[in-house]
Amino acid sequence: MHLLLELQLILSLPAQCFLLNSHSIHHLIFYFEITVAFLEISYNLPVQVLMYMGPDVLKEVIENAELYPIRGLFKFQDYFDEINAYYHRTYKHDCGVKTGWRDLDELYNVVPGELTIVTGVPNSGKSEWIDALLCNLYEGYGWKFALCSMENKVREHARKLLEKHIQKPFFDGRYGGPAERMSVEEFEQGKQWLNDTFHLIRCEDDSLPNIKWVLDLARAAVLRHGVRGLVIDPYNELDHQRPANQTETEYVSQMLTNVKRFAQHHACHVWFVAHPRQLHHWVGGPPNLYDISGSAHFINKCDNGIVIHRNRDPEAGELDRVQVCVRKVRNKVAGTIGDAYLLYNRATGRYMDIPKTNEAE
Ligand SMILES: *[C@@H]1O[C@H](CO)[C@@H](O)[C@H](O)[C@H]1NC(C)=O
Ligand SMILES: *[C@@H]1O[C@H](CO)[C@@H](O)[C@H](O)[C@H]1NC(C)=O
Repeated sequence: MHLLLELQLILSLPAQCFLLNSHSIHHLIFYFEITVAFLEISYNLPVQVLMYMGPDVLKEVIENAELYPIRGLFKFQDYFDEINAYYHRTYKHDCGVKTGWRDLDELYNVVPGELTIVTGVPNSGKSEWIDALLCNLYEGYGWKFALCSMENKVREHARKLLEKHIQKPFFDGRYGGPAERMSVEEFEQGKQWLNDTFHLIRCEDDSLPNIKWVLDLARAAVLRHGVRGLVIDPYNELDHQRPANQTETEYVSQMLTNVKRFAQHHACHVWFVAHPRQLHHWVGGPPNLYDISGSAHFINKCDNGIVIHRNRDPEAGELDRVQVCVRKVRNKVAGTIGDAYLLYNRATGRYMDIPKTNEAE
């Protein structure tokens, strides 16, 4: 306010004053410097030019000037382009893309920039289900992915992905049953697809990767190769050394904040696989999201929480039936809570919709 008064004072002086024929020169130089500093800070104008043109021009500019934007303070108007695009669905992936499974599409869509936590007891097929989802997203939308998969050998992972893509087993024999093995031509074409579609994030030496290292590489994969999804499988295998003054809760919270910031900033979907902690009284049902170690934060911070479960008791139902439990969906545009069932094909590793009974008739 003080500066403003000074400024008005100087602007109301007649033009001759600028020619230094009244008061003391020192006084005017002082005002002059204040004015320049004020204008430069507030209006970001080439002040020397204005001063040269005289006080009237200067005054006019000040009166008509728009307020200099304040960093960090916005109106919705500043986002109208983005909001319009959302409403008119100009960016068609904004509201999420379909998983490719009829029943699951009602519950869960994959939104760029969101974080999905996937859990399930060991051997429930959670990693394999994510692989199948990636194949569907490639087929539907041509998405590419970065994979940070710490429990898979590369060649095993390649086999699982190729079987899903080509829809034939990699080998003859046992698990393939009577299904025909993929041919050499199909295998060669499949390798090309693997090379074009996936980027591997792997620690070559024996050390465990930490989350920052993974996110930095994923960022490079987004910028250089345009990947739309990142899989971290499993979270438990990352290096979780934390500063001595940080509790586990603080650590998990901060780590998830970093993951979400990465996802949002790069419009990349992140799937985080987390093993549940030891279940002491497990009776065969799907685990709870709260069973993940470091728990509450996973549920608070993730956008979507999914539990994959497979029936192991022949008495209780078919063994190839997989239950996809959507336990949390933050964004109601993207889905809702509920369970969907899929059929697992052992020969190809694919997950299929269960035929509707009236379709089967
Ligand atoms: C694999 O992909 C890279 C680019 O991502 C390409 O330069 C390279 O030639 C590909 N390799 C084969 C064998 O096609
Ligand atoms: C933990 O210690 C580091 C330095 O070792 C410091 O920079 C940081 O602010 C500390 N954090 C908390 C929460 O005290």
